[in-house]
Amino acid sequence: MEANSISALGPDIEWKCILLIALTAGTLAQKDTNVCVDFKPTQNGPKKPVLPTVYSVAVECNILNKNFTTNYHEWFDYNNSRAAVDEHDSGARESAIYNFITNELITVDRKTKKCNVDSLSTDPNRQLFGYATSDGKAHIYTAGGALDFGRNFSEQWINQTTIRGIQCNLWRSCVYWDSINATMVVDWYFSVSSWMTSTMMNNAPVRAHVKGRVWQFGTPRDFEHIYEFTEFRNSIDRLTVFETREGVFCPGRKLTKPLPIPADYFHFQSEIIQSDVNLIGHIKEYFDKNTSLVRYDYTPMGPNTYGPDPQIQVHDFNTVIGLEHW
Ligand SMILES: *[C@@H]1O[C@H](CO)[C@@H](O)[C@H](O)[C@H]1NC(C)=O
Ligand SMILES: *[C@@H]1O[C@H](CO)[C@@H](O)[C@H](O)[C@H]1NC(C)=O
Ligand SMILES: *[C@@H]1O[C@H](CO)[C@@H](O)[C@H](O)[C@H]1NC(C)=O
Ligand SMILES: *[C@@H]1O[C@H](CO)[C@@H](O)[C@H](O)[C@H]1NC(C)=O
Ligand SMILES: *[C@@H]1O[C@H](CO)[C@@H](O)[C@H](O)[C@H]1NC(C)=O
Ligand SMILES: *[C@@H]1O[C@H](CO)[C@@H](O)[C@H](O)[C@H]1NC(C)=O
Repeated sequence: MEANSISALGPDIEWKCILLIALTAGTLAQKDTNVCVDFKPTQNGPKKPVLPTVYSVAVECNILNKNFTTNYHEWFDYNNSRAAVDEHDSGARESAIYNFITNELITVDRKTKKCNVDSLSTDPNRQLFGYATSDGKAHIYTAGGALDFGRNFSEQWINQTTIRGIQCNLWRSCVYWDSINATMVVDWYFSVSSWMTSTMMNNAPVRAHVKGRVWQFGTPRDFEHIYEFTEFRNSIDRLTVFETREGVFCPGRKLTKPLPIPADYFHFQSEIIQSDVNLIGHIKEYFDKNTSLVRYDYTPMGPNTYGPDPQIQVHDFNTVIGLEHW
């Protein structure tokens, strides 16, 4: 699995790598008839719940066939065409922001603060939250689409059962991904309506169990993933998840808000904190473009040519002379 990008995001984990291979291999795809042998969907039983258009969730992804676990937090905001993911994978932590309005995927390594900006319409990581083309532009999937791995398929209600002690309804479907030539059985567990969730929301997703077979270069490989969903909420508490963190610079990012142009004259006071030497200072500044004059009033922080007393400095840009008064 590539370490330099937020791999696979939630349910899509690991599949990105397969996807890349499959796309370049020129697949001769067809459904594997040895998977989902007994599956014949019927329309009895309750319907699978419709997910809210805005949600947040924590996901533990257990990749059984590869003996590893990764953790995710996901925030999905269909209403504003954006999504975000925090990933903890193989010791590394990354954050990704999906912006379907600017068509950007912004990925930040949370340790080094290195940031990458990619076009959502071409990045393979778009798959989790969507990329539906109707007019050649990136579109976020519907909520159901995002959690259903972006596929539209028919499911069958199986029974009521208990997952992590939570009473759940189980729906099963057979999913075929032609882009990666994979066939899989997907079991979806949602809490029953009478089960009280922390947000009082009915029918929260509790687990997805995916078991299937993927073909690469004519060779089959079986896989099994279990996704545990916790803290499913129909709201997003911190909108800052859609912003890059403090101290992160993302080269090549689209400018969505121009820097304000300051007035021709202004003044302000500011506090200066030099944390490396444990010093706090203050300064007043006056700026006048018309007369090309700038004035600073301050008390020196640390050793200074003119001593420790408060000082006034005037910079005259007509003559390029700095005057100092003390
Ligand atoms: C795609 O999967 C089918 C089985 O479902 C297999 O027969 C075929 O060889 C696979 N194609 C490739 C290119 O691996
Ligand atoms: C996963 O662990 C099992 C049991 O220890 C082992 O047999 C198997 O080869 C491991 N698989 C991988 C992909 O490391
Ligand atoms: C999102 O939009 C839907 C449909 O307009 C609305 O019902 C829902 O309350 C909105 N959710 C949020 C969190 O704004
Ligand atoms: C799923 O497919 C049905 C019919 O094939 C279609 O009417 C429906 O809009 C699709 N839903 C989504 C979310 O794409
Ligand atoms: C529900 O169905 C699953 C899958 O067939 C089965 O493993 C489980 O034992 C069933 N649970 C109950 C309570 O019947
Ligand atoms: C600066 O010059 C502009 C245009 O000459 C004038 O409108 C403005 O009042 C001046 N501002 C000050 C602070 O003198």
